[in-house]
Amino acid sequence: MNLARWISINKWASVDNYINNLFVPQDSALEHALQTSAKANLPPVNVTPYQGKFLQLLAQMRGARNILEIGTLGGYGSIWLARALPEGGRLATLEADTRHAEIARENICFAGLANIIELHLGLATKTMQLFITEKREPFDFIFIDADKESYPQYFELGLKLSRIGTCIVADNVIREGAVNNPRQNGPEIRGIRRFMELLAAESRVTATAIQTVNRKRHDGFAIALVTS
Ligand code: SAH
Ligand code: DHB
Ligand code: MG
Repeated sequence: MNLARWISINKWASVDNYINNLFVPQDSALEHALQTSAKANLPPVNVTPYQGKFLQLLAQMRGARNILEIGTLGGYGSIWLARALPEGGRLATLEADTRHAEIARENICFAGLANIIELHLGLATKTMQLFITEKREPFDFIFIDADKESYPQYFELGLKLSRIGTCIVADNVIREGAVNNPRQNGPEIRGIRRFMELLAAESRVTATAIQTVNRKRHDGFAIALVTS
């Protein structure tokens, strides 16, 4: 890593700590989720602490009563989002990996959220199609965070599970600037690029993206509001 890059990452890490110390109180359930995930060697791709708080705030501002999370991992993001819900609210979270789901279940139990969070094991597209067939009540808030290749499908299916006012947020849409680098053409980046193009062209939503930096990398969120 070159010196300029090293200095930047240190500064971003220091600001990460600064924000976390100010706005993210110590919390045994969230810490437990991170510890069990690390111990089980889950990939460290959970949202960061203040990103979790940020998503929670968005869901609260939306007044979300029904949340869908696509990509559970160890349940860290699920805990943040479920705590945005009012009494009687529910969160459905979708995970394809049995081992991730097992760890998430334990973390969700430890957080006392087992009655609020339903974890659906299986391919997220399959579960979403099932929700559509079942005419499940639309979600107020949808967080897309699973395999990047499938983001276009998650958006299309997510729209079918939305109503006017639904907020759709997608993680990892910048990927160190790979998103608009024509030399980067792997399946993940093509999925994200296609998703961004769909989002921009979709007349039923108003949307934008925001780039972020932190100790892990330069990345970003897309955010959309369903308007018709
Ligand atoms: N939202 C989580 C992080 C999710 S990481 C958090 O912030 O804590 C992405 C997860 O998506 C991984 O656990 C991975 O197993 C899962 N995943 C990947 N492909 C999937 C698919 N097709 N269907 C459902 N889940 C999938
Ligand atoms: C990575 C980060 C994520 O938030 C994710 O969902 C997948 C991968 C990463 O940094 O590799
Ligand atoms: Mg992510």
